[in-house]
Amino acid sequence: MTATKGLEGVVAAQSAVCSIIDGVLCYRGINVDELAENATFEEVVYLLWHGALPKRDQLEAFQKELGASAQIPQELIESIRNFPEGVHSMAVLRTAVSSLALYDKEAQEMSKEANYRKSIRLTAQTPTIVAAYARLRKGLEPVAPRVEYSLAKNFLYMLNGEEPSDTAVKAFDTALILHADHEFNASTFAARVTVATLTDIYSGVVSAIGTLKGPLHGGANEAVATMLKKIGSVKEVVPFIRQALDNKEKIMGFGHRVYKDGDPRAKWLRQMSKELTEQQGKPELYEMSVKIEEMVTGEKGLKPNVDFYSASVYVSLGLDIDLFTPIFAISRMSGWTAHIMEQYENNRLIRPRADYIGPVNQHFIPMDQR
Ligand code: ACO
Repeated sequence: MTATKGLEGVVAAQSAVCSIIDGVLCYRGINVDELAENATFEEVVYLLWHGALPKRDQLEAFQKELGASAQIPQELIESIRNFPEGVHSMAVLRTAVSSLALYDKEAQEMSKEANYRKSIRLTAQTPTIVAAYARLRKGLEPVAPRVEYSLAKNFLYMLNGEEPSDTAVKAFDTALILHADHEFNASTFAARVTVATLTDIYSGVVSAIGTLKGPLHGGANEAVATMLKKIGSVKEVVPFIRQALDNKEKIMGFGHRVYKDGDPRAKWLRQMSKELTEQQGKPELYEMSVKIEEMVTGEKGLKPNVDFYSASVYVSLGLDIDLFTPIFAISRMSGWTAHIMEQYENNRLIRPRADYIGPVNQHFIPMDQR
């Protein structure tokens, strides 16, 4: 038995949710470009869960169901209020989502219908958790979700306590679509491994949140924003990146295990970054990003991934940097739950083997002889 480091190129299971074939990303067979251009996030969530786009009445009912499920338990709000200061926002999200299970009477119910209802609640309530946390830590009271708002609009409304602009809602909705699913990425795979033991859906998404947190995965968007802040201006890009490349440091937001010719999601976020930074009167953020891209792609052949331009998009939307990865989780909750439901449908325990490279034929040595 020989191991494939990082499981590169290993096909771990069959799935009908999402494909990446020849660098083209599709949700249920539909190119993500078409979805980013034409769909709403709610239509995409429906598509991921049901395998087909909703008809008008189905979408209306679905939106109502999501809107009506967005409220989180008051006990959880009090818990978040009492969390220590200065902790990692993904640790907050991981703990809060885990706590949701404690208040869900169906948490251990394993029927297909119950798991679907829990997927609705998880997807509807994750934005409410993130917005409540963002306000509570600033000494502000959480804002209750509005049943009639889309998920994107509701999140921005709950976050800021005021009506978001149509431009902000549209940009945020598109970002949610682009992040919704991505085949067997690390967090989705972690979720599938977890639920393949037939544990509950909450345990699956908590594994996923812990996995997304890492800087090699979802945590990269926060790292990109921190880097942009550190660089500070276009003229500082060259010396900063030069030094990082010379020191063989990884430039966050570049490279991808699957895409070698570029991440198809990046072009959307690049365009959004250009438009939003111009509108906000902060074009330098976009100009810095383009300069970084020119250098990293020029010298290393590495292309930006989904996390690179999403950083400047979210900065332009006025979002706190440490909320970027929780925002990724708001979107990816839809993909995680789609994969979890698929895993339950045709389950087999996921239990690979290790290529053992440690010592053999060792013996117990009594304490006084060690
Ligand atoms: N900056 C500089 N060099 C890089 C980068 C980068 N961002 N990414 C890869 N490389 C180099 C590596 O140093 C390595 O070089 P070497 O062969 O000389 O040692 C080579 O390219 C291969 O890199 P690996 O890390 O082995 O590639 P892998 O497929 O394992 O990793 C990953 C992919 C984790 C995305 C990697 O490109 C990376 O760390 N990027 C930065 C973090 C990031 O942006 N993550 C988000 C990914 S998208 C997402 O999860 C939503």
